[in-house]
Amino acid sequence: MMFLKEDKMSENLMESSAMKTVEALLQENRIFKPSAEFVDSATLKDEKIYEEARRDRLNFWATQAEQLDWFEKWNKILEWNAPFAKWFIGGKLNASYNCLDRHIKNGMGKKTALIWEGEPGDTRVISYEEAYREVNKLANAIKALGVKKGDRVAIYMPMVPEAAFAMLACARIGAVHTVVFGGFSAEALKDRIMDAQAKLLITADGGWRRGKVVPLKEMADQAVKDCPSIKNVIVLQRTQNAVNIQQERDHWYHDVVKAAAEFCEPEKMDAEDMLFILYTSGTTGKPKGIIHTTGGYMTGVSATTRWVFDIQPRDIFWCTADVGWVTGHSYIVYGPMANAATQVMYEGSPDWPERNRFWKIIEKHQVSIFYTAPTAIRAFMKWGTQWPEGCDLSSLRLLGSVGEPINPEAWVWYYKFIGREKCPIVDTWWQTETGCILISPIASLTALKPGSATKPLPGIDVKVFTEEGGQIHQGGGYLALTAPWPSMLRGIYGDPERFRQTYWSKWHNDIYFTGDGAKLDDDGYLWLLGRVDDVMNVAGHRIGTMEIESALVDNPMVAEAAVVGIADEIKGQAIAAFVILKEGREPTSETEDILKRHVATKIGSIARPSKIIFTADVPKTRSGKIMRRLLRDVAEGRALGDVTTLADPVVIEKLKEKYQEA
Ligand code: WTA
Repeated sequence: MMFLKEDKMSENLMESSAMKTVEALLQENRIFKPSAEFVDSATLKDEKIYEEARRDRLNFWATQAEQLDWFEKWNKILEWNAPFAKWFIGGKLNASYNCLDRHIKNGMGKKTALIWEGEPGDTRVISYEEAYREVNKLANAIKALGVKKGDRVAIYMPMVPEAAFAMLACARIGAVHTVVFGGFSAEALKDRIMDAQAKLLITADGGWRRGKVVPLKEMADQAVKDCPSIKNVIVLQRTQNAVNIQQERDHWYHDVVKAAAEFCEPEKMDAEDMLFILYTSGTTGKPKGIIHTTGGYMTGVSATTRWVFDIQPRDIFWCTADVGWVTGHSYIVYGPMANAATQVMYEGSPDWPERNRFWKIIEKHQVSIFYTAPTAIRAFMKWGTQWPEGCDLSSLRLLGSVGEPINPEAWVWYYKFIGREKCPIVDTWWQTETGCILISPIASLTALKPGSATKPLPGIDVKVFTEEGGQIHQGGGYLALTAPWPSMLRGIYGDPERFRQTYWSKWHNDIYFTGDGAKLDDDGYLWLLGRVDDVMNVAGHRIGTMEIESALVDNPMVAEAAVVGIADEIKGQAIAAFVILKEGREPTSETEDILKRHVATKIGSIARPSKIIFTADVPKTRSGKIMRRLLRDVAEGRALGDVTTLADPVVIEKLKEKYQEA
């Protein structure tokens, strides 16, 4: 087995004085115990929560579920027909009711839900009451367009409050939303709409990114022309750029909302009714539609929001993720809003107009809990400490990290220069499939080690296994989840067999394989080691190698392609593509550009290869499987790994020569 990542900062970065401090702190090999000051102000002060969960896992989760408002209580906590789980059977609830109505009933209508900042600097402050009104009206508008319970609605939006409203409006009427990240291309949007057979698309004219308009409507138009299932498109006016409006099909958001009634009865959803589908990359060319249902998902995200982020009435929480990813679903929309949190939401880029935008936002809105990704932290490190040092970050009390392993250097930098050695860092491990955070410190209870996600949360059973399924108590192996949890995925949309194959077949059908490698240290702390399958993690985004390979071979110039993730100082991984051109095609830099652009058009710019290596052949096993491990060795300039199973060893030598020329 091999692991993809060795997050090493480059030599020159280590030479700066900030990095010297970081190095010194790392050498102390310190364990960061929760400070008395933090513990005093935290909600959870007692480790007995772990014990309670261990003693009676199911009742423990039921106690968490009781913190939601249910129209009808469940009659059974779990039915586990591995690998199919049902939680809170017979229970009825509504996610939008839990995120809005109940807070208003509890007298918190005036509380700020969202402090939104657009990239150009425009700001909106929205109370729970206002969010409630907007969501009700939009829900009625969607209903008026013929969307019913169980219908799928695609959402392709910039980071504006209406993106969250659209999700909650769907949840209110029992429609299943599938949010597609605004950075995905028209074609990627089309594939997802087609797979989900969405009836309605909610989009915007555009969104702001680095001072430019991302033309969402234009891309939506391209996508929808090939999607017969879409009957209507709702278009939010955000950037005021010129867009085509197709009579009958397209409707302005402000028009449909204006015409809608103020109250929409929340649908009484079964705990196991679908809440959303979210597409994510896997090891084949086709993204998987991950299914989450209502009761278990809401239980998982609302409980973990309390444990991990300790959000209290006075807190201002900022999760920098996009709602197009699961982090935005769970820790902007459903988790925090179910807990009546006040949140910052930001539309744009961290370096716009300058590299201190995030710190300016924290200072301006007095953010107290900040949740971001290692890839962003590594970029901040590279930009230098003058940016955060120029801002007042004293409102911060807790920091979080998600999406990829955080290397100890980045952890310590974050701790020192953003948290000013006062804020604990919660390194949170989870996946689109897990719905909520599963491995993370609880800042008031857990001693921290830089780079380790520490321990599973209460009620979560994690083990590390060998290839053969032997349990590892110390050392590295595969990360597995050995008991069902409420917010677990319920399936892959339209493909139960793939669900079984992908997650439940590596060992036994009741053990979930995460696709991640992990190591247990002497203290039983978990260290996540990155993906062990053919999935890359580029700047915290999951991208399948096969997806990019199919995009490449879709170009008429390409005969064959093999894609690997290679170590990258900032992004964790970058994409390298080995390409075999068809007879008569020239491997010029122009061809390289065309192919890079082609991938961006097929999938989105997050999938653009940073390097294309033209080759006459790629190394394959005797059974014809591409040996990505060897390609990685070549691309990263390492000595070659084991080549004994290689069909034609000459291939790799040629490739190495070739690559080193390139
Ligand atoms: C990786 C994002 C190490 C992991 C929430 C996982 C992490 C994949 C961490 C899921 C972390 C996420 N430490 N690795 N704290 N968090 N990952 O579905 O490889 O976009 O399998 O969900 O990200 O990515 P996804």
